[in-house]
Amino acid sequence: METVVSGIRSTGKLHLGNYYGAVKNFVQMQHDYKCFFFIADYHSLTTHPTPQDLHGNVKQVLVEYLAAGIDPEKSTIYVQSDVPEISELYLYLNMNAYMGELQRSTSFKDKVRAHPDNVNAGLLTYPVLMAADILIHKATKVPVGKDQEQHLEMARTFGNRFNTLYKTAYFPEPYAFNFTKKLVKIPGLDGKGKMGKSEGEANAVYLSDEPEVIRKKVMRAVTDSGPTEENQPKPDAIQNLFDLMKVVSSADTYEHFEDLYSKCQIRYGDFKKQLGEDMIIATAPMREKINEISNNEPYLRKIAHYGALKAHESAAKTMKEIREIIGFRSF
Ligand code: TRP
Repeated sequence: METVVSGIRSTGKLHLGNYYGAVKNFVQMQHDYKCFFFIADYHSLTTHPTPQDLHGNVKQVLVEYLAAGIDPEKSTIYVQSDVPEISELYLYLNMNAYMGELQRSTSFKDKVRAHPDNVNAGLLTYPVLMAADILIHKATKVPVGKDQEQHLEMARTFGNRFNTLYKTAYFPEPYAFNFTKKLVKIPGLDGKGKMGKSEGEANAVYLSDEPEVIRKKVMRAVTDSGPTEENQPKPDAIQNLFDLMKVVSSADTYEHFEDLYSKCQIRYGDFKKQLGEDMIIATAPMREKINEISNNEPYLRKIAHYGALKAHESAAKTMKEIREIIGFRSF
């Protein structure tokens, strides 16, 4: 069975866009692959060397991914810093990662622009750490967005270089796994871009939002004065709400409102009310699970320890072999 690895950044609460765009696919992949999902807390230090609440951020990611359906029995879900073998592989890979190639990475250049006062070596070698995350489990599939393609190419370069240098076929090539053949579009509620893209909480519906909050956000979503001609095309803001309805509501409901729109009979109040209620239903199991496990420290501890154990087992095996290949031997 092929191995999958993906790193999860802790960039805030999960919203519907994260869920339908990525996390739901992770959940489905669990059935078909050997999956490792980890919380990338080492990586967070490259831009935030002294995080306010590192543990709290990690915990939030863990809780929300479990609530979204990552099954700790099927997958290995773990915290990166619980598996220090990753940093050992990172060290070895760094010896054969060159300044020039690292400086040419677009994400490095972007980060230099964004944080000119903190251009540290960890930032430069971010792709090496990411390669270590993947190669440590000899993964071949990495479910990530388009923005990570270059990092995957670098991971292949580092793995292949290791193979060439030590005359071995040890590391397989990892490729970005694009699950979005039919792209699910999750727009925000502000009539503009993608959910979560613009500032402000009101644009996104979070998995942890209480029903009352979801209702309010959806009722405040941008609309217009309504269609005046039969079958007229929808302006962006309206199309966005229909796109959201397509994801959370039944096909019947969606068609019902489509029909009303094309006949110029739609009442946005009813439309948004339905959309809000369907969002509440779609998120209910996850919201309940978030509330149920957030304060269950013993449960979270058990899950984190179990994940660390499984990840460590896989990582330790790789590191033992890598040490032998390079030639480290203990007396
Ligand atoms: N760089 C990835 C991101 O920004 C996160 C990440 C770190 C990752 N290590 C990884 C993703 C390993 C996949 C595999 O989203």
